[in-house]
Amino acid sequence: MRIEELKEFYGEDWKKVNIRIGKALESDIELLNSTNGMILSHSGKQLRPLLSILVAKACSDAPLPEDSLRVAAAAELLHNATLLHDDVADESDCRRGEPTINSLMGPSVSVLVGDYWLVSAMNEIQAADHFGPRLISIFSRTLTHLAEGEMLQLQKAQSGDTDENDYLRIIYCKTASLFEAAAIAAAISVNASAEVEEAVRKYAVSLGLAFQIRDDIFDYSDDPEIGKPIGVDILEQKITMPLLGAFMNASDTEVSEVKVKINRIHEHPEYSGQILEFVREKHGVQYAEKRLAGYVSDAVGALSVLPRTQAVRHLEEMADYVARRNK
Ligand code: IPE
Ligand code: IPE
Ligand code: MG
Ligand code: MG
Repeated sequence: MRIEELKEFYGEDWKKVNIRIGKALESDIELLNSTNGMILSHSGKQLRPLLSILVAKACSDAPLPEDSLRVAAAAELLHNATLLHDDVADESDCRRGEPTINSLMGPSVSVLVGDYWLVSAMNEIQAADHFGPRLISIFSRTLTHLAEGEMLQLQKAQSGDTDENDYLRIIYCKTASLFEAAAIAAAISVNASAEVEEAVRKYAVSLGLAFQIRDDIFDYSDDPEIGKPIGVDILEQKITMPLLGAFMNASDTEVSEVKVKINRIHEHPEYSGQILEFVREKHGVQYAEKRLAGYVSDAVGALSVLPRTQAVRHLEEMADYVARRNK
C-alpha cells in the first residue's frame, strides 16, 4: 500500500486526528488564524500521526480511544512547531514546495507561531483522559532532545569536527526522538505491555534515524520534486551521512583538505561544488544508502515480538516507504 492509501485505510481515525489538529489551533486572533490556515493548507506527509495510529492499532484490536488520537495530533503539532523554528535557524525560504512562513512573514512570526503550535501540542497531551503524567513526561523529554539536537548541530557546524557518533546523536535528538515519542505514547494510550512498548520504541527510533538519513541524502541529489532547497547542508557547514561516508573512503590528507574547505566555505562558496564532487567520487551516498537500509531492517526486526496483524504489516510498509521515499 502507498502511504496515502494507508491514511485512507484508517480514514475515520485519520479524519478525527486532522479535526483535532484544527481545533487545537483555533484562536480569535486573526493573524494567528490566517497564518495557521496557510500552514494547514500545505500539510506535508503527516508521517508522525500515521505512525501513532499504526502503533496504537498494532498494540490493540479495540476501537482507538481518544487518547491515541490526541497523541497523534500532538505529534504532528509538535513536528510543525519544530519546522517553523528550524526554518528560522536555517534561514530557509522553501518548504513543501511553497515559500516558508519565515520568508513570507519574517522570523518573529515563524518563531511565535511555532511556539503556539508547540503549546497546542502540549495542551492536547495534558488533556489526556488516562496516563497523562507519563505522556507529558515523554513529550517533554522529546522537547529537550529537539532543542539539544539543533544546538549540538550548530555547535558541530562551528567546530567542524562531526564524527559518526555526533551525527547519530544529532539526528536521534532532532528527528528520531519525535518518532519515538509518537510511537511510545501511542502504545501507552492503549495500555500496551512493557515488552511491546519497548519493541515499538526500537522500531520508531530506527525508523526516525533512517528517515533523517534519507533526508540528508536528498540534500546531495538533484531532484526538484523534493520541495526543499538542496545542496544547502554543506553551505551551513553541516556534516551528514553522505559526507561521512565519503570520508570513510578517503585518505587522511583528503579528509583534512575537505574539512579546511568546509571551515572556509562562507568566504569561498565555490568550495561547495568541489565537496559535492568529492562525495560523488568517494561514493558517499552509496554508503549512506547502506546505513539507511541497516536502520530500516533494524526497525522491521524490532516488530518481531508483536503478533503479525494487519497493522504490524502496515508498520512494515511504512518502513519500506521510508527506505524508498522520494520526497
Ligand atoms: C522534515 O520532515 C524534517 C525532517 C525531520 C527531515 P518531513 O519530511 O516529515 O516534513 P513534512 O511534514 O512531510 O513536510
Ligand atoms: C529537520 O532538520 C529536523 C527538525 C527537527 C526540524 P533539517 O534542517 O535537516 O530539516 P529540513 O531539511 O529543514 O526539513
Ligand atoms: Mg535544521
Ligand atoms: Mg532545515
